[in-house]
Amino acid sequence: MKNTAIIGTQWGDEGKGKIIDFLASKFKAVVRFGGGDNAGHTVVINNKKYIFHLVPSAILHPKTLCVIGNGVVINLKNLLKELEELKKTKKKIARIFISEKCHLILPKHIKEDKKKGRKIGTTGRGIGPTYTDAVARKGTRLIDLQGKKSFRPQKYFDYYQQLQKDYQVKIGDCSLLLDKFQQQKKAILFEGAQGTLLDISHGTYPFVTSSHPTIGGIFIGTGFRPRDLEIIGVAKAYTTRVGEGPFPTELKGAMGSFLREKGGEYGATTGRPRRCGWLDLSILRYAKIINGLDNWAITKVDVLDGLKEIKVCTGYQLGSKIIKVFSPNLRILRGIKPIYKIFPGWQKDISKFKKFNDLPTNTKLYLKVIEKETQLKIKFIGVGPERNQLIKCES
Ligand code: IMP
Ligand code: MG
Repeated sequence: MKNTAIIGTQWGDEGKGKIIDFLASKFKAVVRFGGGDNAGHTVVINNKKYIFHLVPSAILHPKTLCVIGNGVVINLKNLLKELEELKKTKKKIARIFISEKCHLILPKHIKEDKKKGRKIGTTGRGIGPTYTDAVARKGTRLIDLQGKKSFRPQKYFDYYQQLQKDYQVKIGDCSLLLDKFQQQKKAILFEGAQGTLLDISHGTYPFVTSSHPTIGGIFIGTGFRPRDLEIIGVAKAYTTRVGEGPFPTELKGAMGSFLREKGGEYGATTGRPRRCGWLDLSILRYAKIINGLDNWAITKVDVLDGLKEIKVCTGYQLGSKIIKVFSPNLRILRGIKPIYKIFPGWQKDISKFKKFNDLPTNTKLYLKVIEKETQLKIKFIGVGPERNQLIKCES
């Protein structure tokens, strides 16, 4: 088994949680490397829906270690809440290891994030202000709680102790731990949160999150260089976005509502309706470059079942120029017009299919177009929310 990274290639919510849950049992550890409880990863097992915000999506695999890397910002209260909820399910859960270098989200950060002002449409979880304090060298880290009974607010010290006592959470340097696993030739799975276009450096700035959901986030967010890394880009069969900012293929009318309702496109963290639109291949080409992707996981293909025709954006028109690769430059984005190709839909429910070859001809055509236009193979195809509703393509 190779080390593997699961990276979001659009604006988050591509269905990474499901892929991670599917793969988790094969790995020694599953590692979150960025973001915080702004993430909402949904896993469905036997009709029961679990939404994880801060705990890695491998938490339901008791033999896999869940690691929260130093690039993650932590709300201790919400982490405990998540663990308490999991306890109620009586399911056996994985052990958790948290980097002592993680910055803490404090009440002041949440207050700051919720202030009205510049309209980015954040999740209001204090993510941005916490990273801001980290960079300004005035943040508070887990390290600062070690042996500090006098830490204010006091409840933070209590949370810190509770995590260790009630949930046997280990706190230390995750870099050393991951290095040890690598020396033992044990494979590690890296769990991306958010997506490429929300990256603080490579996304549609300033309409982005404050972390690095792209591949580079792994190195900084864990202090570890994985060798033999397979990088799987996760893309939804259409596009969604929560919050403000450019979205070239957005559908504002009935078609957008159709995708929202059928795909259950409401924020797992905030409940906000997600903006929906057609698949944009120029975004996928950009994500391939930024992340050095090795293959695709295309999710929620079943949401398109029953449509008469499906549009796919193959590039943009900018004046007399054709642009093939997405640009996060807002000036360019203001001037472009998406170019669409229209494909025939399939009038079948594909949610029970187990093999690529058995899929309806038009579904295969749609997927083949993604491969051809991005010059990258598809490895997984999501055909429903359940753990087993995933087709593994032969390579
Ligand atoms: P923040 O991450 O709360 O600072 O929000 C910044 C932007 O990222 C907003 O547009 C959010 O809606 C978006 N965002 C943050 N986390 C996620 C996610 O997990 N999925 C989708 N969008 C997200
Ligand atoms: Mg999500």
